[in-house]
Formats: sequence, C-alpha cells, structure tokens
Amino acid sequence: MKKKNCFFMPDTNLIFLFFYISLLNKALCIRISTQISDPIVDSLDRPLKSAVFALGSFWRSEAAFGCINGVVRTSAGYAGGIKTNPEFRNLGDHAESVQVEYDPRIIGYRQLLDVFWSSHDSRQVFGQGPDVGNQYRSCIFTNSTEELRLASTSKEREQLKSRSSIVTTQIQQLGMFYRAEPDHQKFELKQHPFLLQLIGNMVEEELERSALATKLNGYAAELCPLRTQKRIDSRVNEIIRKGWPVLKDI
Ligand SMILES: *[C@@H]1O[C@H](CO)[C@@H](O)[C@H](O)[C@H]1NC(C)=O
Repeated sequence: MKKKNCFFMPDTNLIFLFFYISLLNKALCIRISTQISDPIVDSLDRPLKSAVFALGSFWRSEAAFGCINGVVRTSAGYAGGIKTNPEFRNLGDHAESVQVEYDPRIIGYRQLLDVFWSSHDSRQVFGQGPDVGNQYRSCIFTNSTEELRLASTSKEREQLKSRSSIVTTQIQQLGMFYRAEPDHQKFELKQHPFLLQLIGNMVEEELERSALATKLNGYAAELCPLRTQKRIDSRVNEIIRKGWPVLKDI
C-alpha cells in the first residue's frame, strides 16, 4: 500500500491532525482540526449516550458512576418532579439524580444498571443511608422503550434475590433533567484540594466536562472498583514521590 505525503500546516489556534485512510486502493488524506481543550474528552468526537438515575445523595451518585470504565462524564441534578427550576434548598418533588454520559462502545445500559443496583440499598424506605426524605428516593429514569425493558427486567431480577423486603425503586419516564448548582458538581473531588491541584486547578466549567475529573471524583470518594482505586493510588503516589508534573490521565 502506498502512502501519499501530507503537509503539516501550523496554525496558532488549531492543532491539525492528519490521518491516512486507505479506501478502495486510493489514499485519501483527511485533515481533522480540533480545539485544544480536555485532551481526553474531546480528542475524538465520540458519540455518547446518556442515562439518568436517582440513588440517594447526588454527591455520592456521581462518584459511584464516575470511575466506571466507559463513563465519560457525570452531572449532579434534579429529575422526576414537576417543579420547574429546582434548587438544592428548594427542589420540590424532584429526586437528587445523576446524569451519566457514556461511550456505548465500551459500556452498555445493562452494565450501568448493575452499577445502579450495587451502589445503593434499593430496599430502604424513604431515604438512602443516613439521608432521609423523598429527595433521596431510588429511581431509574428511562428515555426509550429499550431502556424501559432493561430497567424492568433488572428490577424483577433484583426483587427475586430476596423476598424478605420489597425493592422500592421506581421506574419513571425521564422528563427534564435539571443540572444542579456548581457547588454540587464533582462534590467529592472538591473535598480534596490536593487532587484538584494535581489536575491543574481547572476552572469550574472545565472541571464539570473533564473525564479525568469525573474519574478522580469517584476515586476521592473511594468508590472506584478496587483495581482502579489501587491503580490511581499508585499513580498519585508516584507523583508525590517525583513531584510535578500535572496528572494528565489515569
Ligand atoms: C431523551 O431522549 C431524547 C431522544 O433521544 C433526547 O433528545 C433527550 O435529550 C433525552 N432526554 C434527556 C433529558 O436526556
């Protein structure tokens, strides 16, 4: 196969990436430009899917999903109620929720449901852990018939595990998802200034979009799968030993 030469054209604002794509014995040279931002999230424009769950405090919910392989971003928010523009101190009938953006080539909705069930007690009534109240209810918000089918099947399976109590989880059609205030985004990570510093003290907007921050948020809450938790531990310890530079990926 012959390759044609491409010329590198420097530009002040853009990075040009060149790919050779061989198609029907013709070498095409395609130029893809990308703005410099979060290199992990935006280097490739991958089509993400999103899913919304409520499983108690959204601080913890974000962290429970953030470290799962294939999850790219998480956001804390409010869903399931009719109140418009809910706020943390005035969320009306909404449930604290997490929106999970994921790469469907790496993880599926079925596996996200597994994370949902294993990350909280779906049989606790009127609250979750120490948090009491309707805002901490357990709910799967479905946004397609396929999600509804998978959610219903997984709930039946969960109930069959034990008949000593009832699974309280509701399955509800997703309406609006309202993002929570910045203070509540990546809350667990924000309790660890050292980790924030490690990733270069991102500004809020960048922090909320960053796949790295999403993962570290799970790590900060010690909610990563054990192997991942240990792997990040060793990367962090390595940086502590050697000093700077900034953590770029994990
Ligand atoms: C629900 O799905 C529709 C169609 O796929 C999409 O446009 C919409 O943004 C989704 N809703 C939420 C809140 O994610």
